[in-house]
Amino acid sequence: MSSEVLDRSLVLDAVRVTEIAAIAAWKMVGRGDEKEADQAAVDAMRTALNDLDIDGEIVIGEGERDEAPMLYIGEKVGKPSGKFKIDIALDPLEGTTLTAKAMANALAVMAWAPKGTMLNAPDTYMDKIACGPGYPAGVIDLDKSPADNVKALAKAKGVPPEELTVCVLDRPRHADIIASLRSVGCRIYLITDGDVAGVMNTADPSTGVDLYVGQGGAPEGVLACAALKCVGGQFQGRLVFRNADERARAARVGIKDLDRKYDLHEMVRADAIFAATGVTDGALLDGVKVKDGFVHTHTLVLNSATRTAREVRMKRPV
Ligand code: FBP
Repeated sequence: MSSEVLDRSLVLDAVRVTEIAAIAAWKMVGRGDEKEADQAAVDAMRTALNDLDIDGEIVIGEGERDEAPMLYIGEKVGKPSGKFKIDIALDPLEGTTLTAKAMANALAVMAWAPKGTMLNAPDTYMDKIACGPGYPAGVIDLDKSPADNVKALAKAKGVPPEELTVCVLDRPRHADIIASLRSVGCRIYLITDGDVAGVMNTADPSTGVDLYVGQGGAPEGVLACAALKCVGGQFQGRLVFRNADERARAARVGIKDLDRKYDLHEMVRADAIFAATGVTDGALLDGVKVKDGFVHTHTLVLNSATRTAREVRMKRPV
C-alpha cells in the first residue's frame, strides 16, 4: 500500500465500523447510563475492527492503557498480518451524556490515516477555532479575540458580523468567549456536548454555523481535523494543561512543545478517511431507527484523497 494514501476499499469498512458502534450505543439511548452506553459502543467497535484485514494502532482512543481496558492508546487492532497498516482515531460514542439523556447530535466517530500521520493528542483540553471552506488562508487565528475573528470572517464572507453564527460549547469556562462574541452581535449556537459535530457544522452550510470557538477535548480536535481535511476548512488548536498530570500525559505521547499552535494539516498530516454514524438525530446525521423489523442507520463517510463525501443509509433486519 502507498505510504500516504489509504486504499479506497477501506471506505466501506469504516462505514461498517461506525454503524455497528452506533447501533450498540442506540440501545442505551435515554437509559441514563453514560458508562454503559459508552461500553456498548466500545465493545462493538473493537469487535468490528478486529474482523478487518488491517494492522491498526489506536492513536486517539478511550484513554491511556492503565485507565481504559479497551481501545486504549497504543492498542493494536485487526491482525499483525493485516493488509493495511493504519493509525486509528476513534470515539465510539461522541456524546455519552447526549445518549444517556436521549438528546440530539450523539455520533459514533472514527478516522483512519497512514501510520504516524495523526497527532498523538493527550487526553487533555484543547483551545480550538474552526471555519468551513472557501475563505482565505489565515482568516481565523486562535491568538485573536473571538470578536476579531468574527469581524474577519464576516468581512471575508461579505456580510455584517450580526449575520454570522458561532457554535460554542455551553460551559462556564466560556463566559469570556461568549461576552466577546456578544460584543459584535453575532448569533451564538450553544451546544451542550459534542464538539466534533460542532466543528463539522462549520463546513456544512445547511447547519447555518460559520465559526466554532472554544475549549474541548484534544482527542475530539484530531477527529474534527480529519473530517475538515476531507471537506476543506480551517482549524487551529493549542493544548491546555491544568496540572502536572496533564503535562505528563503530553510527555508520554511525545509532545515536546507544550505551547504549540497546531493547524489542521499538522494535526492530520496525510490523507485520511473519516466516518461518523448518527446515534441520535442531529444537524448532520439522522440517528438510529428501528421500524418494521429493520434497523436503519445514517453515516457520513469522507475520503480526503479523492475529496469524496458519501452519505450511506443502511437497512438490515434487526
Ligand atoms: P464524551 O462523549 O466523551 O462525553 O465527550 C463529549 C464532549 O462534549 C466532547 O465533544 C467535548 O470535546 C468534551 O466533551 C468537552 O469536555 P467537557 O464536558 O469536560 O467540557
